[in-house]
Amino acid sequence: MIFCARSLLTLLFLFSGLMLNAACAAEMRCGTSLAPNALPTPKNQYGEYECRKAPIDITDQASLRRGAAMFMNQCASCHALKYMRYQRIATDLSIQPEQMKQFLQLSQAQLNDDISARLAPDLQIKIFGTVPPDLTLTARKRSPDWIYTYLLSFYSDPSRPLGVNNAVLPDTAMPNVLDALHKEVGDQAFKARIGDLVNFLNYTAEPQQQKRKIYGIFVLLFLFIFLIPVYLLHKEYWKDIK
Ligand code: HEC
Repeated sequence: MIFCARSLLTLLFLFSGLMLNAACAAEMRCGTSLAPNALPTPKNQYGEYECRKAPIDITDQASLRRGAAMFMNQCASCHALKYMRYQRIATDLSIQPEQMKQFLQLSQAQLNDDISARLAPDLQIKIFGTVPPDLTLTARKRSPDWIYTYLLSFYSDPSRPLGVNNAVLPDTAMPNVLDALHKEVGDQAFKARIGDLVNFLNYTAEPQQQKRKIYGIFVLLFLFIFLIPVYLLHKEYWKDIK
């Protein structure tokens, strides 16, 4: 009886932890004002704007590779991924050596180097007034949905020094670097490209997550199966005492 009550309590404890986690994840907001010509974002009951759902899938290697290429070409001039090495990306995402060579050439880096921004920090301060943040862990700090919504929320604002503003991060110092791509490919394809990019940033925030999720299923399976002999053993030990 005591055994059962304890197991129930443990399960309840685990379950409430999971619920709390889900509730916290649902708390993410993407701003309180919507820019006049940014893509529309749904409003929740508090009058705040929900983040858009980023189409991320850690098992989609092709999407991760497209995201990596986009990051190297469009973002790595300003942003670093200092907790990530080129070598790890090449191995995890099975990137072809020729493409890896291209990435390295762009940054004048070696395979074992970590990914630093191509512009020097003092130059960045002169241009933007700030050093663009390292993006390795941003998907964990802000959430993938936040980054996705942020990248889709630039709008032109002549009152800003660079002529652009952002509905999610008002008065952002970041230029709308993807504007040309947006105009070239159109809304739908642009969203898909941003999806790949966010998928990649979600991977860099926790590269081992794919393995962790697979191991997690095996661990839970093992625990459930292990419960049977433990329960039978328990009955055996206590049968004379009760
Ligand atoms: C020309 C330089 C430049 C480029 C290129 C650039 N950014 Fe930025 N980015 C910035 C600056 C500057 C900031 C800081 C904005 C601020 O704090 O006001 C920033 C901020 C951000 C943030 C907000 C981070 C946070 O936690 O506040 C994200 C996310 C981001 N950039 C993603 C990207 C992605 C993805 C790309 C590639 C498509 C990219 N940026 C390309 C300059 C750049």
